[in-house]
Amino acid sequence: ENEPLILGIETSCDETGVGLVRGQTLLADAIASSVDEHARFGGVVPEVASRAHLEAMVPTIRRACETAGVKLSDVDAVAVTSGPGLAGALLVGVAAAKALALSIDKPLYGVNHLAAHVAVDTLEHGDLPKGAVAMLVSGGHSSLLAVEDITEGVQPMGSTIDDAAGEAFDKVARVLGLPFPGGPYVDKAARDGGDRAYVTFPRGLTSQRDLERHRFDFSFSGLKTAVARWVEAKRRDGEDVPVNHVAAAFQEAVCDVLTRKAIDACKDRGYEHLLIGGGVAANSRLRAMAEERCAAAGIAVRVPRPGLCTDNGAMVAALGSELVRAGKDPSPLELPADSSMPI
Ligand code: KG4
Ligand code: ZN
Repeated sequence: ENEPLILGIETSCDETGVGLVRGQTLLADAIASSVDEHARFGGVVPEVASRAHLEAMVPTIRRACETAGVKLSDVDAVAVTSGPGLAGALLVGVAAAKALALSIDKPLYGVNHLAAHVAVDTLEHGDLPKGAVAMLVSGGHSSLLAVEDITEGVQPMGSTIDDAAGEAFDKVARVLGLPFPGGPYVDKAARDGGDRAYVTFPRGLTSQRDLERHRFDFSFSGLKTAVARWVEAKRRDGEDVPVNHVAAAFQEAVCDVLTRKAIDACKDRGYEHLLIGGGVAANSRLRAMAEERCAAAGIAVRVPRPGLCTDNGAMVAALGSELVRAGKDPSPLELPADSSMPI
């Protein structure tokens, strides 16, 4: 193989990820997560995340190289998430990437975390389609993006105006007494005999009036509150809370809005491809509903396997690789970490 070898570093939230990619082939995807340390707080604590990145950085780089059977000196370029994300957490990754690039005398590529979530699909399905809508749904973001050429960046079409989709899953999980991070537990509870039609929870920003201003935006805070009120009312009346049914009905509301708006975005742009990424893309109901509704609308869906949907270093290496292959200029060594980086 004479394609360049790219090492990617991801530290924007609570996962320390180091990926190695050659061309569009994934060689290693090492991850250290501090999620357990945040669990007792019910959410990611920035200080704790930064410290964990610092401790995990070097061992994770080493583990990735061992898995891929390469030496650091074999790496042809270093890519790193430079934003958006937690400021202190990003700084650890950016500093490590700079030090590494400098020490092996290879170019540095600062990349946008959201664009990296889109680019990771190349590792599973090859070149991205020429025009596509990407829906990114995670604990930190819920966005609809238009993607013409990933090496030129992505264009925002809409995003959440309050909670992210994953955040809503996590908060509803807490209300239902399920562990953190709650998405996978809600998914599982719903699959274990949950009745999606047991309650009809609100679909945010879907009324005619809201669509005029927020056609491609999301809102999950009202839904979360509606679920919490419903559950509280049951408890107050001394009744059992049917956790599986509530999980299924809540999940149905989230997936209904996400898929409806994503398909509408494809139609608006005239795109026949929808890419889905981010932690919530691992949701079984979202995957099934997207397949079904997109098939009916003549849209092809691409969703990477769940392990590539959540934050990882491979996605950063994948985008770095696309940039190198397209002959893009590297970033200066002064590359800043930008916690509120625009898309
Ligand atoms: O992309 P990710 O790993 O990190 C962020 O950038 O946030 O996404 C984590 C989020 C969490 O909110 C988690 O509850 C959610 O993704 N998640 C899920 C599922 N698996 C993870 N949500 C719904 N269903 C799932 N199966
Ligand atoms: Zn992410």
